[in-house]
Amino acid sequence: MKDFAVYGDICYAKKPDKPECMEDSYVVCVDGKCAGVFDVLPEKFKGIEVINFDNKIITPGFVDLHVHAPQYSYRGLGMDLELLDWLDTITFPEEAKYADKDYAARAYEVFVGDLKKSATTRASIFATIHKDATIELMRQLEAAGLSCYVGKVNMDRNSPDSYRETAEESVRTTIEWLDESSDFAHVKPIITPRFVPSCTDGLMRELGKIADERSLPVQSHLSENLSEIEWVKELAPDSRGYADAYDRFGLFGNAGSCVMAHCIYMRDDEIELMKERGVFVAHSPQSNMNIRSGIAPMRRFLDEGIKCGLASDVAGGSSINMFKALTDAIQVSKLYWRLIDESRKALTFPEAFYLATKGGGEFFGKVGSFEEGYEFDAIAIDDSMARTNLQLNISQRLERTMYLGHAGFIKAKFVAGRRLF
Ligand code: GUN
Ligand code: FE
Repeated sequence: MKDFAVYGDICYAKKPDKPECMEDSYVVCVDGKCAGVFDVLPEKFKGIEVINFDNKIITPGFVDLHVHAPQYSYRGLGMDLELLDWLDTITFPEEAKYADKDYAARAYEVFVGDLKKSATTRASIFATIHKDATIELMRQLEAAGLSCYVGKVNMDRNSPDSYRETAEESVRTTIEWLDESSDFAHVKPIITPRFVPSCTDGLMRELGKIADERSLPVQSHLSENLSEIEWVKELAPDSRGYADAYDRFGLFGNAGSCVMAHCIYMRDDEIELMKERGVFVAHSPQSNMNIRSGIAPMRRFLDEGIKCGLASDVAGGSSINMFKALTDAIQVSKLYWRLIDESRKALTFPEAFYLATKGGGEFFGKVGSFEEGYEFDAIAIDDSMARTNLQLNISQRLERTMYLGHAGFIKAKFVAGRRLF
């Protein structure tokens, strides 16, 4: 891979309190990694190709820590339902159709095409229970140049016959899928028990063993909805709580990295366990509004040092635009402060920018920043598309772009030094 520099108005987060913003500067890529940000290109980089994005904002790629690829087709439908009814009436019948690999291939082309054009460079993705369709999704993401985790979903209870595996089938198909997906360079498998109501203890135990033996990351859902939480108490009477229903099977950051979507209604001891295990929260504010789940205590998570990132959770969320997830996170945290707990300050813009880039990026390693040694994930944003007569400084332009921007603003995208467009 050739080394190069990108020139433009550069913004990235090192820490949550304030983004680093440098106008008319260079971010250098050496061997797919950042080699620093400079206002004048140092002597040792003289002669490398400079890609000129004059007047464009250059940020790290955005990270979507939780998204359901087969739900992309029905974004914005059924939005009057709560989680469990929404799963039964809309989600399970649609995901069942992915048994047909051709159907899946056509649907995934739309998802992958749009994801490629979006601000997202990294995503942790749920597919369906079907091995062939999941491999097809991975193939398409790899061809698009994106770096993602993809999970074949495991489900052996509480869904229709047409969309349920036996525990034995689920384990066998998962192992076949893992063996078949080992050739992708940038798209990697992640163990994906859908959530406790969908997986028997026996299946969870086997998935914990597979994750441990193969050192694989794990993703699932945790404490999203009040009826769901009551149901988990009935379904897992021997566990100490929802988090423990994963933890007792080694599916809670015991063996490797783990990301749990939502985490809205967490007990103190569960938050403590997340911290101990380095489990990531995938905060999905738009989904939490759409299906009326609630508001996650993000200020508390940040104060207590829990690892956190942002997520679209399409199709609970109706948009894969991570600029929107960022501003939604700020907005719901204001409602949390106003309506639930005035001692928990709302998220600030710099904090939300950090979460959407470096916060979630950590799930993928050194990702989400332009600090030296970070993988070179970057986008070039044309904020002149949001017209104004004001003369704004670079940090004002960044904030405004997050509120007003969408995929149409994104003029170039790099993942680990590879240029996608
Ligand atoms: N819990 C279990 N499955 C799902 C899903 O598909 N979406 C959301 N938001 N929550 C879930
Ligand atoms: Fe989800």
